[in-house]
Amino acid sequence: MAVIGVLTAGGDCPGLNAVIRGVTVRAAKIHSAEVVGIRNGWEGLMEGDTVQLDRDAVRGILVRGGTILGSSRMDPYVHGDGLASCAKTIEQNGIDSLVVIGGDGTLRSALRLSQEGLPVVGVPKTIDNDINGTDMTFGFNTAVQIATEAIDRLVSTAESHNRVIVVEVMGRTKGWIATYAGIAGGADAILIPEVPYDIEETAEILRNRHRRGQRYSIVVVGEGVEPPPGATTQQKRKDAFGFERLGGVGFHVATALEQMTGFETRVTVLGHVQRGGTPSAFDRVLATRFGVAAADYAATGQTGVMTALRGLDIVAVPMEEACATIRGVPADIFETATMFFG
Ligand code: F6P
Repeated sequence: MAVIGVLTAGGDCPGLNAVIRGVTVRAAKIHSAEVVGIRNGWEGLMEGDTVQLDRDAVRGILVRGGTILGSSRMDPYVHGDGLASCAKTIEQNGIDSLVVIGGDGTLRSALRLSQEGLPVVGVPKTIDNDINGTDMTFGFNTAVQIATEAIDRLVSTAESHNRVIVVEVMGRTKGWIATYAGIAGGADAILIPEVPYDIEETAEILRNRHRRGQRYSIVVVGEGVEPPPGATTQQKRKDAFGFERLGGVGFHVATALEQMTGFETRVTVLGHVQRGGTPSAFDRVLATRFGVAAADYAATGQTGVMTALRGLDIVAVPMEEACATIRGVPADIFETATMFFG
């Protein structure tokens, strides 16, 4: 009987459990394959922390946020010596192929393991929606929904107090959540890392609104934007993988805008609330389809690929393509957002 390993690594995201369930059920029902869950991402693969998964083990998890397997930012190439540090667990569990559910850092490590000879299938996971080769990652839709609901709420309090509210959203180096939630929430300005901004222009957008009698404004800021000139920045902190820890640039933007316009300004940093809780229906479906496809690819030896959404279809794309670049917001989508500024 073939054995498929499955792990979730990097930051969690709504829909992880739906993928685990998809892999497990499909592997058992269609391929008569066994599934071994690896706990806490790469850490569990390096340390031999595993759990047997079957139909009963994945019952009821579809709607649950987070990951039943746990996750970490440990990495076999940062904290170990690549495939060699995972070999014992793979051998002891008889793992024939490994389904790796992760974001860009995780998928890059999966590609390296695959180049070292491990049969790997990647599944693109991140609320940031920045994985190349797929039209969308699961988790993004849920995060946009949460951020949009937050903006809707912030509009009513901003309006009541004649305030500017700066809403900082996640997304690391790309502004997908900021752009989509900004469009959906009717933001008056959106700042994203891909598009350099002039804080004076943003201040002028707000002044113009006030001149026209609109005495409140919502500014959505992607956490990865550069602070405005003159802002005192803290020393950059890193996570266990080596990624820069973000969060807080909204305060610099708010301070600058308040000083430049004289309008009372507040900040809301949405943070991890965007990643927590139950996945949207869209993400449940996408994650389930990714899980089912990943089990098919793993069980039939179609490895070295990542599951991807292209239009309405799930397809296999080479891991190299997935890792070639970090995908940013297309200019035309951001341009649509700018139509409604001010
Ligand atoms: O990559 C997903 C993400 O949520 C980013 O949007 C964010 O910058 C980062 O992870 C936060 O990571 P952590 O949970 O390790 O603080």
